[in-house]
Amino acid sequence: MASSATLPTLHFSPKPSTDSSIGRSETCNLFLRFRNHDLVSRRSFSVSFDSLGLNRSGTPVLKFDRIRSKISASSAQVMEQSPRKTDSRVPTIVDVDLGDRSYPIYIGSGLLEEHDLLQRHVHGKRVLVVTNTTVAPLYLDKVINALTSGNPNVSVESVILPDGEKYKDMDTLMKVFDKAIESRLDRRCTFVALGGGVIGDMCGFAAAAFLRGVNFIQIPTTVMAQVDSSVGGKTGINHRLGKNLIGAFYQPQCVLIDTETLNTLPERELASGLAEVVKYGLIRDPEFFDWQEKNMQALLARDPSALAYAIKRSCENKAEVVSLDEKEGGLRATLNLGHTFGHAIETGFGYGQWLHGEAVAAGTVMAVDMSHRLGWIDDSIVKRVYNILQLAKLPTTPPEIMTTEMFKSYMAVDKKVADGLLRLILLKGPLGNCVFTGEYDRNALDETLRAFCKS
Ligand SMILES: NC(=O)c1ccc[n+]([C@@H]2O[C@H](COP(=O)([O-])OP(=O)(O)OC[C@H]3O[C@@H](n4cnc5c(N)ncnc54)[C@H](O)[C@@H]3O)[C@@H](O)[C@H]2O)c1
Ligand SMILES: [Zn+2]
Repeated sequence: MASSATLPTLHFSPKPSTDSSIGRSETCNLFLRFRNHDLVSRRSFSVSFDSLGLNRSGTPVLKFDRIRSKISASSAQVMEQSPRKTDSRVPTIVDVDLGDRSYPIYIGSGLLEEHDLLQRHVHGKRVLVVTNTTVAPLYLDKVINALTSGNPNVSVESVILPDGEKYKDMDTLMKVFDKAIESRLDRRCTFVALGGGVIGDMCGFAAAAFLRGVNFIQIPTTVMAQVDSSVGGKTGINHRLGKNLIGAFYQPQCVLIDTETLNTLPERELASGLAEVVKYGLIRDPEFFDWQEKNMQALLARDPSALAYAIKRSCENKAEVVSLDEKEGGLRATLNLGHTFGHAIETGFGYGQWLHGEAVAAGTVMAVDMSHRLGWIDDSIVKRVYNILQLAKLPTTPPEIMTTEMFKSYMAVDKKVADGLLRLILLKGPLGNCVFTGEYDRNALDETLRAFCKS
């Protein structure tokens, strides 16, 4: 088993930590200033030195100034705590600040009609749109029109993949390469992902690998993809033994979110995406969690302003985390709250049986239960998590088929296992604080698994 010297506990909080278990000598508080002052004027993270790459002799690898300059999850159109009506065609812009790989996230209603937004990010004259059998009849023509209108030099190919998580695999990925190679696309082409997280992850991975990397644009059309998967550059496919085990970090040129596309989304898919929205509140944005408790009904009723606000605030949270920790050295792992349990459910139950957000919701309840058993959070947080997920019509227990042994064996291949030690994201302290750690009482994990599984 690895020692704590090599696998430290990383503490993340939205305000200076009051956790006395974090020694002053090994903790630095980083105050991060947002450009969007209306949203949050100041935040801090309490991060152990190792997480920021301080070497053991104490030399910081990431210095304070460098971190500050990297943070600019900003919005062109600033919204107050409660959403207000905006000019639908003027996009809200959230920047993902990654130096020369920075890119904008455009958020707004009807943005697929704003042809220039898309066209300005296309490189070369050849485009390959990757989509699936469900999304193609709904939006493919619109996207082709947006790419070519007033732009006759651009030619667009498309590849329409079978729909579903169970097709997020090597065979289906190969269809993208087949199309690209048969169409003789060259390095100056652009791949466009049109669809949910499955299409975004696969198209992004194809773009990363085709000719060792071509230009790539995300047009996410599910809540899940608009609040999470299209942002941050994680791309990949599943292996039969585990979720997302094969992939690459590969950032898009832009993310274009037309919130109108959500009008055709089935209810179950809408709720699934809200599991990730809840996650941002729990790990780092307690005001956003409060807002969600008050606005869950509006979100489920697809109130356009509520959805736009939830998407914007989620993208701001994700953009900030990714700007700080693109390759998941520590902070970014916190976006996986509930996912280690959730991925075990997705793999164990069979890909596609439960939606990703449904598995994450049950997994979040399990992670919160374990945090409570460890004595790290109080009862009120447990109740609030349970209530909000119920309000969102999401599962709060795993499917009956899942046994403790299944959880253990699938969790053992999780990407967050390091040197044989399973690290988990757990809540610790007041709402909005979490840790990424392998240092927890194993009995608490066993008790949680026993409490949620029949055998
Ligand atoms: N890369 C990341 O950082 C990241 C983050 C979160 C999730 N993910 C991945 O995302 C995937 C889940 O994404 P998802 O929930 O979007 O699932 P999905 O891509 O399977 O889409 C859900 C369903 O909705 C359909 N659909 C998409 N847009 C539609 C629309 N506008 N109208 C009607 N139907 C529409 C799809 O065809 C599909 O049937 C998982 O594979 C998960 O691992 C990745
Ligand atoms: Zn997720």
